[in-house]
Amino acid sequence: MTGEEVFTETIARDQRVEPRDWMPDGYRKTMIRQIAQHAHSEIIGMQPEGEWITRAPSLRRKAILLAKVQDEAGHGLYLYSAAETLGADRGDLTRRLIEGRQKYSSIFNYPTLSFADVGVIGWLVDGAAICNQVPLCRSSYGPYARAMIRICKEESFHQRQGYELLLTMMGGTQAQRDMVQDAVNRWWWPSLMMFGPPDDRSPNSAQSMAWKIKRHSNDELRRRFVDMTVPQAEALGVTLPDPELRWNAERGSYDFGTPDWAELSRVISGDGPCNAQRIERRRRADEDGAWVREAAAAHAKKQMGIPA
Ligand code: 3HC
Repeated sequence: MTGEEVFTETIARDQRVEPRDWMPDGYRKTMIRQIAQHAHSEIIGMQPEGEWITRAPSLRRKAILLAKVQDEAGHGLYLYSAAETLGADRGDLTRRLIEGRQKYSSIFNYPTLSFADVGVIGWLVDGAAICNQVPLCRSSYGPYARAMIRICKEESFHQRQGYELLLTMMGGTQAQRDMVQDAVNRWWWPSLMMFGPPDDRSPNSAQSMAWKIKRHSNDELRRRFVDMTVPQAEALGVTLPDPELRWNAERGSYDFGTPDWAELSRVISGDGPCNAQRIERRRRADEDGAWVREAAAAHAKKQMGIPA
Protein backbone atom coordinates (compact mmCIF):
# COMPACT_ATOMS: atom_id res chain seq x y z
CA MET A 1 0.00 0.00 0.00
CA THR A 2 1.22 3.54 -0.77
CA GLY A 3 1.65 6.12 2.01
CA GLU A 4 -1.50 7.83 0.81
CA GLU A 5 -3.49 4.59 0.91
CA VAL A 6 -2.25 3.88 4.45
CA PHE A 7 -3.19 7.45 5.49
CA THR A 8 -6.67 7.14 3.99
CA GLU A 9 -7.15 3.75 5.67
CA THR A 10 -5.96 5.13 9.03
CA ILE A 11 -8.48 7.99 8.90
CA ALA A 12 -11.28 5.70 7.70
CA ARG A 13 -10.62 3.32 10.60
CA ASP A 14 -10.60 6.17 13.14
CA GLN A 15 -6.98 5.39 14.00
CA ARG A 16 -4.21 7.84 14.81
CA VAL A 17 -1.77 9.45 12.38
CA GLU A 18 1.67 9.57 14.01
CA PRO A 19 4.62 11.90 13.32
CA ARG A 20 6.58 9.40 11.22
CA ASP A 21 3.55 8.40 9.09
CA TRP A 22 3.08 9.68 5.56
CA MET A 23 0.53 12.51 5.53
CA PRO A 24 -0.74 14.91 2.84
CA ASP A 25 1.01 18.30 2.95
CA GLY A 26 -2.41 19.90 3.50
CA TYR A 27 -3.00 17.75 6.58
CA ARG A 28 0.40 18.71 8.02
CA LYS A 29 -0.24 22.38 7.26
CA THR A 30 -3.72 22.30 8.85
CA MET A 31 -2.44 20.55 11.96
CA ILE A 32 0.40 23.06 12.39
CA ARG A 33 -2.09 25.91 11.85
CA GLN A 34 -4.61 24.63 14.40
CA ILE A 35 -2.06 23.50 17.01
CA ALA A 36 -0.20 26.82 16.71
CA GLN A 37 -3.44 28.80 17.09
CA HIS A 38 -4.18 26.78 20.19
CA ALA A 39 -0.67 27.13 21.66
CA HIS A 40 -0.61 30.88 20.98
CA SER A 41 -4.06 31.18 22.62
CA GLU A 42 -2.81 29.48 25.78
CA ILE A 43 0.23 31.75 26.07
CA ILE A 44 -1.58 35.01 25.25
CA GLY A 45 -4.44 33.84 27.49
CA MET A 46 -2.09 34.13 30.50
CA GLN A 47 -2.18 37.93 30.21
CA PRO A 48 -5.80 38.93 30.94
CA GLU A 49 -6.00 36.87 34.14
CA GLY A 50 -2.31 37.32 35.03
CA GLU A 51 -3.07 41.00 35.54
CA TRP A 52 -5.15 40.07 38.61
CA ILE A 53 -2.59 37.88 40.38
CA THR A 54 -1.16 40.84 42.35
CA ARG A 55 -4.68 42.12 43.09
CA ALA A 56 -6.36 38.86 44.17
CA PRO A 57 -8.60 39.51 47.23
CA SER A 58 -7.07 36.71 49.34
CA LEU A 59 -4.07 34.39 49.48
CA ARG A 60 -6.34 31.48 48.52
CA ARG A 61 -7.63 33.28 45.40
CA LYS A 62 -4.09 34.31 44.52
CA ALA A 63 -2.82 30.70 44.82
CA ILE A 64 -5.69 29.36 42.68
CA LEU A 65 -5.15 32.01 40.01
CA LEU A 66 -1.37 31.45 40.02
CA ALA A 67 -1.93 27.72 39.49
CA LYS A 68 -4.35 28.37 36.65
CA VAL A 69 -2.10 30.82 34.79
CA GLN A 70 0.82 28.45 35.25
CA ASP A 71 -1.31 25.63 33.76
CA GLU A 72 -1.97 27.78 30.68
CA ALA A 73 1.78 28.25 30.18
CA GLY A 74 2.20 24.49 30.42
CA HIS A 75 -0.56 23.93 27.87
CA GLY A 76 1.19 26.29 25.48
CA LEU A 77 4.53 24.51 25.85
CA TYR A 78 2.83 21.12 25.44
CA LEU A 79 1.17 22.26 22.24
CA TYR A 80 4.32 23.84 20.77
CA SER A 81 5.98 20.44 21.35
CA ALA A 82 3.09 18.77 19.48
CA ALA A 83 3.59 21.25 16.60
CA GLU A 84 7.32 20.41 16.56
CA THR A 85 6.48 16.74 15.86
CA LEU A 86 5.17 18.04 12.50
CA GLY A 87 8.44 19.80 11.72
CA ALA A 88 7.37 23.25 12.95
CA ASP A 89 9.93 25.40 14.77
CA ARG A 90 8.76 26.96 18.06
CA GLY A 91 10.78 30.14 17.49
CA ASP A 92 9.31 30.51 14.01
CA LEU A 93 5.76 30.03 15.33
CA THR A 94 6.37 32.74 17.95
CA ARG A 95 7.65 35.11 15.25
CA ARG A 96 4.56 34.40 13.11
CA LEU A 97 2.34 35.19 16.11
CA ILE A 98 4.17 38.44 16.91
CA GLU A 99 4.14 39.50 13.25
CA GLY A 100 0.42 38.77 12.98
CA ARG A 101 0.92 35.92 10.52
CA GLN A 102 -0.72 33.40 12.86
CA LYS A 103 -3.80 33.71 15.04
CA TYR A 104 -4.74 33.23 18.65
CA SER A 105 -8.23 33.09 20.14
CA SER A 106 -10.18 36.35 19.85
CA ILE A 107 -11.42 35.93 23.42
CA PHE A 108 -8.14 37.13 24.92
CA ASN A 109 -8.42 40.53 23.28
CA TYR A 110 -11.00 41.72 25.81
CA PRO A 111 -10.04 43.53 29.04
CA THR A 112 -10.45 42.07 32.54
CA LEU A 113 -12.10 44.94 34.44
CA SER A 114 -12.77 43.34 37.85
CA PHE A 115 -11.92 40.21 39.80
CA ALA A 116 -15.31 38.80 38.76
CA ASP A 117 -13.80 38.56 35.26
CA VAL A 118 -11.41 35.91 36.63
CA GLY A 119 -14.42 33.84 37.69
CA VAL A 120 -16.33 34.42 34.46
CA ILE A 121 -13.29 33.54 32.34
CA GLY A 122 -12.88 30.29 34.28
CA TRP A 123 -16.59 29.49 33.96
CA LEU A 124 -17.34 30.61 30.37
CA VAL A 125 -13.99 30.77 28.51
CA ASP A 126 -12.49 27.60 29.98
CA GLY A 127 -15.95 26.04 29.80
CA ALA A 128 -16.11 26.81 26.08
CA ALA A 129 -12.57 25.50 25.66
CA ILE A 130 -13.61 22.22 27.31
CA CYS A 131 -16.62 21.94 24.97
CA ASN A 132 -14.36 22.54 22.01
CA GLN A 133 -11.43 20.43 23.13
CA VAL A 134 -12.88 17.25 24.64
CA PRO A 135 -13.79 16.07 21.10
CA LEU A 136 -10.21 16.96 20.08
CA CYS A 137 -9.04 14.15 22.40
CA ARG A 138 -10.26 11.98 19.48
CA SER A 139 -8.52 14.07 16.82
CA SER A 140 -6.80 11.98 14.16
CA TYR A 141 -3.32 13.40 14.86
CA GLY A 142 -1.85 11.33 17.74
CA PRO A 143 0.34 13.86 19.56
CA TYR A 144 -2.43 16.52 19.50
CA ALA A 145 -5.13 14.12 20.71
CA ARG A 146 -2.91 12.88 23.54
CA ALA A 147 -1.98 16.44 24.58
CA MET A 148 -5.70 17.25 24.74
CA ILE A 149 -6.36 14.57 27.35
CA ARG A 150 -4.16 16.23 29.96
CA ILE A 151 -5.16 19.75 28.90
CA CYS A 152 -8.89 18.99 29.22
CA LYS A 153 -8.40 17.58 32.73
CA GLU A 154 -6.73 20.84 33.80
CA GLU A 155 -9.30 22.99 31.96
CA SER A 156 -12.05 21.32 34.01
CA PHE A 157 -10.24 22.44 37.19
CA HIS A 158 -10.16 25.95 35.69
CA GLN A 159 -13.87 25.89 34.93
CA ARG A 160 -14.75 24.69 38.45
CA GLN A 161 -12.55 27.23 40.22
CA GLY A 162 -14.15 30.01 38.19
CA TYR A 163 -17.67 28.84 38.93
CA GLU A 164 -16.88 28.45 42.65
CA LEU A 165 -15.54 32.01 42.77
CA LEU A 166 -18.75 33.29 41.14
CA LEU A 167 -20.95 31.28 43.54
CA THR A 168 -19.07 32.91 46.42
CA MET A 169 -19.49 36.40 44.97
CA MET A 170 -23.18 35.83 44.21
CA GLY A 171 -23.60 34.96 47.90
CA GLY A 172 -21.89 38.23 48.82
CA THR A 173 -22.92 41.90 48.67
CA GLN A 174 -25.08 43.50 46.00
CA ALA A 175 -21.95 45.21 44.68
CA GLN A 176 -20.32 41.79 44.20
CA ARG A 177 -23.44 40.41 42.51
CA ASP A 178 -23.47 43.45 40.19
CA MET A 179 -19.78 42.87 39.43
CA VAL A 180 -20.52 39.28 38.38
CA GLN A 181 -23.48 40.26 36.19
CA ASP A 182 -21.41 43.01 34.54
CA ALA A 183 -18.65 40.49 33.74
CA VAL A 184 -21.20 37.97 32.34
CA ASN A 185 -22.65 40.73 30.13
CA ARG A 186 -19.20 41.48 28.74
CA TRP A 187 -17.90 37.88 28.24
CA TRP A 188 -20.97 35.94 27.05
CA TRP A 189 -20.97 36.82 23.36
CA PRO A 190 -17.14 36.76 22.92
CA SER A 191 -17.22 33.25 24.51
CA LEU A 192 -19.66 32.07 21.83
CA MET A 193 -17.29 33.46 19.20
CA MET A 194 -14.49 31.17 20.48
CA PHE A 195 -16.09 28.33 18.49
CA GLY A 196 -15.33 30.11 15.23
CA PRO A 197 -17.49 31.58 12.48
CA PRO A 198 -20.82 29.93 11.57
CA ASP A 199 -20.45 26.68 9.63
CA ASP A 200 -21.46 28.29 6.35
CA ARG A 201 -18.56 30.77 6.74
CA SER A 202 -15.88 28.37 7.99
CA PRO A 203 -13.34 27.75 5.22
CA ASN A 204 -11.49 25.01 7.14
CA SER A 205 -14.22 22.94 8.81
CA ALA A 206 -15.24 20.65 5.94
CA GLN A 207 -11.68 19.44 5.28
CA SER A 208 -10.82 19.29 9.00
CA MET A 209 -13.85 17.11 9.60
CA ALA A 210 -13.06 14.89 6.61
CA TRP A 211 -9.60 14.34 8.11
CA LYS A 212 -11.23 13.80 11.56
CA ILE A 213 -9.13 16.62 13.01
CA LYS A 214 -12.39 18.27 14.05
CA ARG A 215 -15.12 15.91 15.21
CA HIS A 216 -18.00 18.42 15.31
CA SER A 217 -18.79 21.62 13.48
CA ASN A 218 -18.38 25.10 15.00
CA ASP A 219 -22.14 25.61 15.30
CA GLU A 220 -22.71 22.18 16.82
CA LEU A 221 -20.14 22.83 19.57
CA ARG A 222 -21.48 26.35 20.15
CA ARG A 223 -24.97 24.96 20.65
CA ARG A 224 -23.63 22.28 22.98
CA PHE A 225 -21.93 24.99 25.05
CA VAL A 226 -25.12 27.08 25.31
CA ASP A 227 -27.16 24.03 26.35
CA MET A 228 -24.57 23.20 29.04
CA THR A 229 -24.20 26.77 30.33
CA VAL A 230 -27.77 28.07 30.61
CA PRO A 231 -28.69 25.83 33.60
CA GLN A 232 -25.40 26.84 35.27
CA ALA A 233 -26.29 30.51 34.83
CA GLU A 234 -29.71 29.86 36.38
CA ALA A 235 -28.09 28.10 39.36
CA LEU A 236 -25.71 31.03 39.73
CA GLY A 237 -28.54 33.55 39.55
CA VAL A 238 -27.17 35.57 36.63
CA THR A 239 -28.94 36.59 33.42
CA LEU A 240 -27.32 35.76 30.09
CA PRO A 241 -27.44 38.87 27.86
CA ASP A 242 -29.45 37.29 25.01
CA PRO A 243 -33.15 38.23 24.69
CA GLU A 244 -33.61 35.45 22.12
CA LEU A 245 -32.46 32.73 24.53
CA ARG A 246 -35.30 30.28 25.13
CA TRP A 247 -35.83 26.53 25.45
CA ASN A 248 -36.95 24.83 22.25
CA ALA A 249 -38.84 21.79 23.51
CA GLU A 250 -39.27 20.42 20.02
CA ARG A 251 -35.52 20.33 19.39
CA GLY A 252 -34.57 19.67 23.00
CA SER A 253 -32.06 22.52 23.16
CA TYR A 254 -31.93 26.31 23.47
CA ASP A 255 -32.60 28.80 20.72
CA PHE A 256 -30.24 31.75 21.01
CA GLY A 257 -29.34 34.97 19.23
CA THR A 258 -26.66 35.45 16.58
CA PRO A 259 -23.19 36.53 17.68
CA ASP A 260 -21.88 39.71 16.01
CA TRP A 261 -19.77 38.12 13.27
CA ALA A 262 -18.50 41.50 12.17
CA GLU A 263 -17.08 41.95 15.68
CA LEU A 264 -15.40 38.53 15.48
CA SER A 265 -13.71 39.34 12.17
CA ARG A 266 -12.64 42.77 13.48
CA VAL A 267 -11.09 41.22 16.59
CA ILE A 268 -9.46 38.38 14.62
CA SER A 269 -7.92 40.89 12.23
CA GLY A 270 -6.33 42.83 15.10
CA ASP A 271 -8.95 45.47 15.86
CA GLY A 272 -10.12 44.23 19.26
CA PRO A 273 -9.94 46.22 22.54
CA CYS A 274 -6.60 44.70 23.65
CA ASN A 275 -4.92 43.18 20.57
CA ALA A 276 -2.04 45.67 20.41
CA GLN A 277 -1.16 45.41 24.12
CA ARG A 278 -1.35 41.58 24.08
CA ILE A 279 1.03 41.29 21.14
CA GLU A 280 3.36 44.02 22.44
CA ARG A 281 3.57 42.18 25.77
CA ARG A 282 4.31 38.90 23.95
CA ARG A 283 6.98 40.60 21.81
CA ARG A 284 8.66 42.11 24.90
CA ALA A 285 8.60 38.78 26.75
CA ASP A 286 10.18 37.07 23.73
CA GLU A 287 12.90 39.73 23.57
CA ASP A 288 13.56 39.70 27.34
CA GLY A 289 13.77 35.91 27.31
CA ALA A 290 16.20 35.66 24.37
CA TRP A 291 19.27 35.46 26.66
CA VAL A 292 17.72 32.54 28.59
CA ARG A 293 17.09 30.61 25.39
CA GLU A 294 20.65 31.33 24.16
CA ALA A 295 22.19 30.28 27.49
CA ALA A 296 20.12 27.08 27.60
CA ALA A 297 21.07 26.23 23.99
CA ALA A 298 24.79 26.91 24.70
CA HIS A 299 24.63 24.77 27.85
CA ALA A 300 22.94 21.92 25.95
CA LYS A 301 25.61 22.08 23.23
CA LYS A 302 28.36 21.97 25.85
CA GLN A 303 26.74 18.98 27.57
CA MET A 304 26.68 17.18 24.22
CA GLY A 305 30.29 18.11 23.52
CA ILE A 306 29.33 20.22 20.52
CA PRO A 307 31.75 23.14 20.09
CA ALA A 308 30.09 26.57 20.71
N1 3HC B 1 -10.33 33.57 17.36
C1 3HC B 1 -9.31 33.66 16.48
N2 3HC B 1 -9.33 33.07 15.26
C2 3HC B 1 -10.42 32.36 14.95
C3 3HC B 1 -11.52 32.21 15.83
C4 3HC B 1 -11.43 32.86 17.08
N3 3HC B 1 -12.42 32.79 17.95
N4 3HC B 1 -12.44 31.43 15.23
C5 3HC B 1 -11.95 31.12 14.02
N5 3HC B 1 -10.75 31.67 13.86
C6 3HC B 1 -9.91 31.64 12.65
C7 3HC B 1 -9.39 30.25 12.34
O1 3HC B 1 -8.14 30.02 12.99
C8 3HC B 1 -9.26 30.35 10.83
O2 3HC B 1 -8.14 31.14 10.53
P1 3HC B 1 -6.90 30.55 9.73
O3 3HC B 1 -7.45 29.71 8.62
O4 3HC B 1 -6.14 31.76 9.27
O5 3HC B 1 -6.18 29.74 10.78
C9 3HC B 1 -10.45 31.22 10.41
O6 3HC B 1 -10.77 31.99 11.58
C10 3HC B 1 -11.65 30.45 9.92
O7 3HC B 1 -12.21 29.69 10.97
P2 3HC B 1 -12.49 28.13 10.76
O8 3HC B 1 -13.65 27.77 11.62
O9 3HC B 1 -12.58 27.82 9.30
O10 3HC B 1 -11.13 27.54 11.31
P3 3HC B 1 -10.89 26.20 12.14
O11 3HC B 1 -11.45 25.03 11.41
O12 3HC B 1 -9.46 26.20 12.50
O13 3HC B 1 -11.78 26.39 13.47
C11 3HC B 1 -11.35 26.78 15.80
C12 3HC B 1 -11.47 27.42 14.41
C13 3HC B 1 -12.73 26.23 16.17
C14 3HC B 1 -10.90 27.82 16.82
C15 3HC B 1 -10.35 25.64 15.71
O14 3HC B 1 -9.13 26.15 15.22
C16 3HC B 1 -10.13 24.94 17.03
O15 3HC B 1 -10.95 24.18 17.48
N6 3HC B 1 -9.00 25.15 17.65
C17 3HC B 1 -8.67 24.35 18.85
C18 3HC B 1 -8.04 25.18 19.86
C19 3HC B 1 -8.92 26.20 20.47
O16 3HC B 1 -9.99 25.94 20.88
N7 3HC B 1 -8.38 27.41 20.51
C20 3HC B 1 -8.96 28.53 21.14
C21 3HC B 1 -9.34 28.29 22.61
S1 3HC B 1 -8.44 29.22 23.74
C22 3HC B 1 -7.93 28.07 24.89
O17 3HC B 1 -8.15 26.91 24.77
C23 3HC B 1 -7.22 28.59 26.08
C24 3HC B 1 -7.86 28.08 27.35
O18 3HC B 1 -7.01 28.34 28.41
C25 3HC B 1 -9.17 28.71 27.59
